[in-house]
Amino acid sequence: MRLTKQFLFLTFAVLAISCGRKVSDVDKKVNDLLSQMTLQEKIGQMNQISVGGDVSNFAGAIRDGQVGSILNEVDPVKINEYQRIAVEETRLGIPLLVARDVIHGFHTVFPIPLGLAATFDPQLVEEVARVAAIEATAQGIRWTFSPMLDIARDPRWGRIAEGSGEDPYLDARMAEAMVYGYQGRTSDSTSMAACIKHFVGYGAAEGGRDYNSTLIPENLLRNVYLPPFEAAVNAGAMTLMTSFNDNDGVPSTGNKHVVKEILRGEWGFDGLVVTDWNSMGEMINHGFAEDRPDAAKKALEAGVDMDMMTYGFIGHLEEMVRSGEVKESQIDAAVRNILRIKVKLGLFEHPYINVEAAEKVQYAPEHLAAAQKSAEESAILLKNDGTLPLKEGLRILVTGPMADAPHDQLGTWVFDGEKSHTVTPLKALQERFPGKVTYVPGLTYSRQERDNFSDVVAAARRADVVLAFLGEESILSGEAHSLADLNLIGSQSELLKALRATGKPVVASIMAGRPLTIERDLENCSAMLYSFHPGTMGGPAIVNLLTGEANPSGKTPVTFLRTVGQAPMYYNHNMTGRPYSGELLMKDIALEAGQTSLGNTSYYLDYGAYPLFPFGFGLSYTSFEYSGISLDRQEYRAEDTIGITFTLANTGSREGTEVAQVYVRDLVGSIARPVKELKHFERITLAAGESRTVKVELPVSSLAFFGLDGSRKVEPGKFQLWVAGDSASGEPVEFEVE
Ligand code: BGC
Repeated sequence: MRLTKQFLFLTFAVLAISCGRKVSDVDKKVNDLLSQMTLQEKIGQMNQISVGGDVSNFAGAIRDGQVGSILNEVDPVKINEYQRIAVEETRLGIPLLVARDVIHGFHTVFPIPLGLAATFDPQLVEEVARVAAIEATAQGIRWTFSPMLDIARDPRWGRIAEGSGEDPYLDARMAEAMVYGYQGRTSDSTSMAACIKHFVGYGAAEGGRDYNSTLIPENLLRNVYLPPFEAAVNAGAMTLMTSFNDNDGVPSTGNKHVVKEILRGEWGFDGLVVTDWNSMGEMINHGFAEDRPDAAKKALEAGVDMDMMTYGFIGHLEEMVRSGEVKESQIDAAVRNILRIKVKLGLFEHPYINVEAAEKVQYAPEHLAAAQKSAEESAILLKNDGTLPLKEGLRILVTGPMADAPHDQLGTWVFDGEKSHTVTPLKALQERFPGKVTYVPGLTYSRQERDNFSDVVAAARRADVVLAFLGEESILSGEAHSLADLNLIGSQSELLKALRATGKPVVASIMAGRPLTIERDLENCSAMLYSFHPGTMGGPAIVNLLTGEANPSGKTPVTFLRTVGQAPMYYNHNMTGRPYSGELLMKDIALEAGQTSLGNTSYYLDYGAYPLFPFGFGLSYTSFEYSGISLDRQEYRAEDTIGITFTLANTGSREGTEVAQVYVRDLVGSIARPVKELKHFERITLAAGESRTVKVELPVSSLAFFGLDGSRKVEPGKFQLWVAGDSASGEPVEFEVE
């Protein structure tokens, strides 16, 4: 019996190998190299170090084969020199992978990723990532640590700026776009490997405090946090970074379940897995590893290939292989993943860059045009009483700390974009309206406290319209920059109030790294345009929007809260057993009211149940109307496609673009399902008065989710579907899945 089983297994294995894919040229080259490498050379490939200053400081380690990748060098001359040492002075001439955090542009800076998500325009985002790759690869960067795919449901978390917000579907579409953009649809010398990060759940840090623990149960992980990563893997993302957080006690860098079982096993990812900066070493701080050797072993066992800055692999793996604690085959698997990327990027054929050409592509006119377009599409109009677009011939007062803040409008993670290239709103307005613009800053930086605004107020009285540029400095969001208070910082709200008191129309133009709590400020302005830090060309983009040369079309990629105490609040929450049904607020409660549990539902006594703006919200200078929403059938099978038809009309007097959004609710599931989930969106541009009938094909399979039995499937039952301009509008149509 035992023999028969073994025989069958062997026969099957031989068949599987002979029928399997033939070894690709890439794998041949990788295997060939691997067969010539010593154990030390292999482990050297698994080491990534940060360099800077003199090349001579690191030349020895590279020459000795102790480095597979470097980060933080952008000087093309030095990069060529590092490569020369690796290619010409090491035994096997394996080139280095040169990495950098190119997060939203290299020299030309685009809106921060949260702003890019607000465009709901994956095609444009792909273009933006392509530009970033063209500029960065020209200087020798062939690996970017982007895109960040962490779902963020809590705006206190500073890194909400770096992702696509709260929705897994939008995040997945942005992820694919960035992967295609960075890596190029076809590989050439401008291809830059994308690194999807941070795997996984990092955005769910407790209380929004960066690096904090997360507690994401399996189904939530699979239904919300993992889908963007899976989409990016399917789009061909070459590399992935593990995150800092521990989920339910297990730090990601040592998490076999997510890296080995899900990423490698279920999704078949054969790319490179790198740790975050010292996240291997931090497993000791987590109390999950005893010391560096233990951390290195746990990371390797989890499926990590490259160590960023712990020196855990380079310091300890050799000894562990010699003692038999670690198998050399584990090292081989990691090195294969690393070499494969180097081969795919063509680094063996073209390790060097043309230094003279490198500078020419930076800030190219078409790159600046893409920066302006993306900044235009990313701005969200939150309020307008008709003050916008601005009429011609007005005397304009420009004020506020963000009016002329060339460094701060670039946003977080800007290492390479120079502020000397930034066009601020003030500069753009002065060019657009010569002689009509007065500038009185009021506050010179966002954190400034001031109690007297008499000079600005006097200037406002002499103007026809006030443009107040407010927000937060770039340093207030991003990594390690979480906040517990999300109101406009410093005295900005007071400034706005003082301006409003003049009776003049006041337009608030906000630039920030997150959705701030701006409810009271909305009351103190006639119109509000919200830009997440808009980048190099933010000024002209905002001016085009203010004047109406461009029509706002951005939509909120994340829920805007009324007060920070509502966090976390997001549109795709579960229904709960007691959904809000309009109960009393604190102001309506009588004195000495008696305790009762009648009508108790899920809401805040002081702030109710709703946010300030729902996910997907944004106004335009025109208006849109949805009608005739219908489905081609009422019942579907799991393999069918739902044919959705609706008519969108531009009912206003100017051309505009609407982001039409399709949401679905699965009424009953084996586990409680979200009240709504985004399943499709598209940007539709219509002339004034135009209407269009739009058809959307939605595969029933897109309704699948991980349920009680842990498998992903579409569960039969009743569903509701909305087509609307945001996540809180529209009336549902119903259908059933058999
Ligand atoms: C961040 C990563 C980044 C890395 C390298 C870390 O602190 O979490 O997102 O890619 O540094 O700069």
